[in-house]
Parts: sequence; C-alpha cells; structure tokens
Amino acid sequence: MQHILRADQFTRQQVDEILSRAKTMQTLLPRNALDIARGHILAALFYEPSTRTRLSFETAMLRLGGQTISETDVQFSSATKGEVLPDTIRIVSGYADIIAIRSKHKGDAELAAQYATVPILNAGDGPGEHPTQSLIDLYTISEHFALGKETVRVTMVGDLKYGRTVHSLTKMLRLFENVAITFVAPEVLAMPSELVQEGDNTATELSDDILGASDVIYDTRVQKERFDDLAEYERLKSAYVFDTEKVSKMHEEAILLHPLPRITEITPEVDELPQARYFEQARNGVPIRMALITKLLGIRI
Ligand code: NCD
Repeated sequence: MQHILRADQFTRQQVDEILSRAKTMQTLLPRNALDIARGHILAALFYEPSTRTRLSFETAMLRLGGQTISETDVQFSSATKGEVLPDTIRIVSGYADIIAIRSKHKGDAELAAQYATVPILNAGDGPGEHPTQSLIDLYTISEHFALGKETVRVTMVGDLKYGRTVHSLTKMLRLFENVAITFVAPEVLAMPSELVQEGDNTATELSDDILGASDVIYDTRVQKERFDDLAEYERLKSAYVFDTEKVSKMHEEAILLHPLPRITEITPEVDELPQARYFEQARNGVPIRMALITKLLGIRI
C-alpha cells in the first residue's frame, strides 16, 4: 500500500490489519515514549479548515517519535501566488517522508499521488472522500459490535450528498458482511445514487422506528461550505436534531457517532448520554493515524 486515497482501494484483509495495528498502537500510547518513527517527517498540507484531522495526524507522528511540518493557512501558502498542486507536491516530497493533504477539490489527493515521491494520505478532498476518517469510524464501531459477524444496523443521517465521511464509510462498510445500511437525508442531500445498493433503506424522515432499530447512528453536519445558496443551507441545516428525547428512542447499546464538528445537529445535553460516542470516536483518530503512518513508512511494530 503506497498511498491512502479512496475507501475502495482497501481489501477486507487490509482493513482488518489496520484496525489491529491501531489496537496495538492504542495499548502502546499511554507509555508515551515511542520512537519508532524517529527521523521521519510528516507534512500536513491543509487547504480547508480542520482541527481533529490535522492535529491527530500531527499527534500521531509526534507520539511515534517523528516530527511534523504544516501548511495550514492558505493565505500564507504559495498557492495564493498561483502555484499549482503538482509543483507543491514535488517540492514537499523533497522535504517530508509522508504527506497528509486536505483540499477543496475532489480528486486532489489522487492528483497529488501522481506527483509525489512519498506516500500521500487523503485527509479529505472537497466533497469526495475521507478514507482515514472511515477507518476511525470502523474502529469505533468494532469496539462496540462484532462487525462482520453479528448483524449491525448502521443509519447515516444528514448531509449525505456533500459529506465525504459518509461516502467513504459506505464504501468501506461494503467489505463487511451482515451490515444493514439506512440512509436518512432530505431529498436534495441524498446519498449519491452510485453509492446506494439493493437492500439499503432510504428515508427522508428520521422516524422512531429507524431510531429504535439502529445499532449505529452516524450523524453528519450539513456542509455549509458546499452550498452556493446559503438560504438553502439555512433551510436544511437543522433538518434532524438529536436531542435527549430523540436519543432516548435509541436502544441502550446503540451508539451515536459523528465525525465532528457538530453545529446544531446534536444538542450538548446528549453528550451525557451513554449512546454519545463521538468524543471517543475523535480520540481514536490518533491510534488509527499512528497505524497508517507506520504502515506507509514501512515501520515494523
Ligand atoms: C469532517 C470532514 O472534514 O469531512 N470532519 C472530520 O474530518 N472529522 C466532517 C465535517 O467537516 O463535517
């Protein structure tokens, strides 16, 4: 595996291996003194806002004993002078051993991979994909359910059209047996039809039946930055709001996930409920990214 670009590049065996490598990383984490990536540098090129993804990539590299360089403010980047991505990637390939990139345009990570001489990690390409987030999501789900063995009913809610996390997650869940998927979105934000398969359920209303029957609810933010018409965004942004009443309709072992940031779609009171697992999910970003960095750099653990 040279780069991480899309969810559908993975085999089930590769996903299993990454999840188990992440588990090892999680057990090593408290020791806090790994130096297996000493001498390696991660470059974080982030041309769209990010807190979790960039900081967890950087934390992962630092926890491994490596170092990081970042470009985070596009205003101070040569991109504003008109430098094109292939040139930036050629240059940064000469500075760093691995590059995590987030950009506004679908396909940018693939483009970067064509010019890179070091591994590229797609940290989100516009409305395209976010495969490293999906590995975090699968890791979190498999901490609660025997994914691939017992039946797991996963419901994705919110902006399924522009939300890159749900695009990648849907593709990756296809690798596992016994997963039943339901998509809940307003019609204009529906999951792209090429990602919907026979046997999936789709709905525009988040009914009590769906809430009660789901083992995993994966809520998402309406992606304001992808709307040309902000009035349309305002109309849709609170289409589904998880408050304590809604979450109490979920069964007791069910989990509520969200890649974060949440804006209005989950009220703060929900954080106290046992189903709320999105902060745990965000923490899992570090061991997953430690697993990915070591794997791509060929570091044995
Ligand atoms: C998501 C993203 O950037 O796609 N956040 C993340 O990486 N954890 C979700 C979002 O921004 O809504």
